[in-house]
Amino acid sequence: MNFNTTISKIERLADDIYLLRLQSEEISEQAVPGQFVNIRCSTGLDAYLRRPISICRVDRDHHTFDIVYMNRGRGTNLLCSLCEGDTLDAMGPLGKGFTLPQKGEKIAVVGGGIGIFPLLFLLSESQCAEKTAFLGFRTKEAIVLREEFEKASDKLVIATDDGSDGIDGLITAPFQSWLEEARPDRVYTCGPEPMMNIVGRLCVDKGIFCEVSMEQRMGCGIGACLVCACKVNDADDYQYAHVCKDGPVFPAERVIRW
Ligand SMILES: Cc1cc2nc3c(=O)[nH]c(=O)nc-3n(C[C@H](O)[C@H](O)[C@H](O)COP(=O)(O)OP(=O)(O)OC[C@H]3O[C@@H](n4cnc5c(N)ncnc54)[C@H](O)[C@@H]3O)c2cc1C
Ligand code: FES
Repeated sequence: MNFNTTISKIERLADDIYLLRLQSEEISEQAVPGQFVNIRCSTGLDAYLRRPISICRVDRDHHTFDIVYMNRGRGTNLLCSLCEGDTLDAMGPLGKGFTLPQKGEKIAVVGGGIGIFPLLFLLSESQCAEKTAFLGFRTKEAIVLREEFEKASDKLVIATDDGSDGIDGLITAPFQSWLEEARPDRVYTCGPEPMMNIVGRLCVDKGIFCEVSMEQRMGCGIGACLVCACKVNDADDYQYAHVCKDGPVFPAERVIRW
């Protein structure tokens, strides 16, 4: 497992959203969509616990991978002070990723906010017949990686909460209308929990394969500390799973709250 990466590029994508391109032969070769790296944001005691960030894209020829983060709190704020050429302690690739579609299948991804990043990696790696992407953002200014999603999918639908770009309102509405007509083989979702709940429930009701990527605070990232424990459905009962090791990707029927 790799720890030391070198920052080869930093790009500000929006007001508080940054892309880091990291050099690591091991991570770029081994990572699968849905996996994440657990980052030590400082070398001192500040933000001591690592912060999980999804792998957004890999370039296997150039041995790099991209992560995109929102400057949200203490840990990600420390990342903003890094420069190109600096080293970054990124442990990974970690977790269980998405089940890739088969050739000839029709898929949809539904993402919101910072949950869109692993879905770009998934679309890029999916060699299937038809790919539709539904992405929700707060406002026009928060839209990032639009061109990349356009390239990686056959159809891109954008919605903004304030109607400043794309469809006015939540992304779950156009997804629900599309689902009335389309019959996708697989649906993948990552983003705010209420959004994933709606997407998961719609798919489970229709018997459509759906995977959900859970966001949970983490400690070790490798199944040793229990910080990321979450309740998952288990037949008529429930059990606890580690989001870092058993997930972050789970079948929708295991995690949606009814
Ligand atoms: C598997 C996984 C993949 C992730 N991928 C990405 C990604 O690609 N890009 C990205 O920007 N973020 C991603 N996150 C979320 C990211 O880990 C947190 O935003 C980050 O830990 C915030 O750290 P901080 O020190 O900056 O903020 P903190 O000071 O720890 O918190 C700032 C705010 O964010 C909230 N918060 C922090 N962590 C979480 C969390 N895990 N779940 C819900 N709320 C939280 C806090 O309640 C607080 O309001 C991912 C999380 C997981 C579990
Ligand atoms: S983060 Fe330690 S067990 Fe998951």
